[in-house]
Amino acid sequence: MAAAKRLKTNPRELATAVIDTVALDDIVEQLDIAGPGFINIFLSAEFLAARLAREQPLVSPAQHPYTAVVDYSSPNLAKEMHVGHIRSTIIGDAVAKVLECLGHNVIRQNHVGDWGTQFGMLITYLTETGANSQVLEDLEEFYRAAKQRFDADADFATRSRLAVVGLQGGQPELRRQWQRFIDISLNHCQALYGRLGVSLSREDVHAESAYNDDLPNVIESLREQGLLEESDGAQCVFLDEFKGKDDQPLPVIVQKSDGGYLYATTDLAAVRHRHNQLNAQRVLYFTDARQVLHFKQIFAVARKAGFADAAMSLEHHPFGNMLGKDGKPFKTRDGGVVKLAELLDEAEARAFDLVTQKNSELGEDERREIARVVGIGAVKYADLAKNRTSDYHFDWDQMLAFEGNTAPYLQYAYTRVQSVFRRGNIDVESLTGETAPSEPAERTLAVTLLRFQEVLEQVAADAYPHYLCTYLYELASQFMRFYEACPVLTAPGKVRDSRLHLCLRVAETLKNGLGLLGIETVERM
Ligand code: ARG
Repeated sequence: MAAAKRLKTNPRELATAVIDTVALDDIVEQLDIAGPGFINIFLSAEFLAARLAREQPLVSPAQHPYTAVVDYSSPNLAKEMHVGHIRSTIIGDAVAKVLECLGHNVIRQNHVGDWGTQFGMLITYLTETGANSQVLEDLEEFYRAAKQRFDADADFATRSRLAVVGLQGGQPELRRQWQRFIDISLNHCQALYGRLGVSLSREDVHAESAYNDDLPNVIESLREQGLLEESDGAQCVFLDEFKGKDDQPLPVIVQKSDGGYLYATTDLAAVRHRHNQLNAQRVLYFTDARQVLHFKQIFAVARKAGFADAAMSLEHHPFGNMLGKDGKPFKTRDGGVVKLAELLDEAEARAFDLVTQKNSELGEDERREIARVVGIGAVKYADLAKNRTSDYHFDWDQMLAFEGNTAPYLQYAYTRVQSVFRRGNIDVESLTGETAPSEPAERTLAVTLLRFQEVLEQVAADAYPHYLCTYLYELASQFMRFYEACPVLTAPGKVRDSRLHLCLRVAETLKNGLGLLGIETVERM
């Protein structure tokens, strides 16, 4: 339509001219013009068959692979991970996995917060409580107790502040205490990553403290380039792009009047590191939308100072809040933060009840395992399936439903395919690996399978995992329709083989797609 307008011609005439000109004979069975000038392309059965043949991978690597740094999860280690961290962790991980699956070189960076005044307070309290690991079992509780002490006792507060200075000055005993605390907190995170199927490891941690020694260099470089200005004793960068209400430029503060550095300073050092040491061509940051201005400013300063050249793409991919079903902030009944570990426990418990209702004949161990896969999958999927930029309403009943765009529905569709193989006693290796889609439901399924690659490319380009969810839901729904319309096991010889092969490709794609979202499947449920 738009092209016709530009060429000042009638869209139907243009469509006819296109159809007369294109040479798609080996791919297309039929080309039609519909409505005001749409072109319908019917792919030929031979083409579909050839592309779906056993030896053809459904995903092929990018022709121009690049190095992508993905900065995600990145919790503050002073406290225990809570629900506020789940979105960055799982959205970032899904995008990292998709990029990797397309053959890009992915460098994960868990930019954890492990530096700053809070840690002075925590290690002071740790020394006081005798530093046994038991008190650190519940980090949330430990933080609360330390904070109480800090607020109530001026002497404790002074010692805490001195501890920060000592820590940053590299005093060995304080460093040791701090390291102990960090290790324990990181172990908490790793345990959650394991449960969530998140691919972050200890090697991916590049903490704020790792940039500490480089911060004076960042300031120096800004100064040399004439980008620093002093304002109320603080060192700032002013950029014309960022103006406040009264049209005055907003400062990006990079060093406080007492000499201390800020979150922004560390991020500037991180950009430089990612550019100079990691040779990233793309850097993707996943944090909530409250940090939009922070990243805009960092990116602008980094470009201006030459910490990142024009060839390195800097991208902040923000997401909305996680809210309760009622649209209010997601809290425990008494108004506290919901710990991630407890949320996952509840998901598994709820899934266990459902699985038990549905499959009371299965042994308890198997039901527990199914419940783990379904419960964790449901929590993750419900989040990943929504457009990340909007706020997200957490709703147990919706996410655990076996109908609709949910993890249980997709996992169930996968088991349906597996049950076809089980019932028919099919050794998939013995199939010819050929398919000849002819029925409409088969053709639709075949075309959808071939779209997998394109969907992954979209996810990689826009960092929107919900594209993949929408796709998998479509695939599963089409499979269910195909399964009703086209008998598989009772079909005659060649048709049976063809349909079985189609089933196999569906199962493989569902499993693969869910795997990229970090969601497991089971063979039956
Ligand atoms: N630790 C930060 C927080 O909890 C998130 C860090 C995101 N990454 C970054 N490079 N700033 O809000």
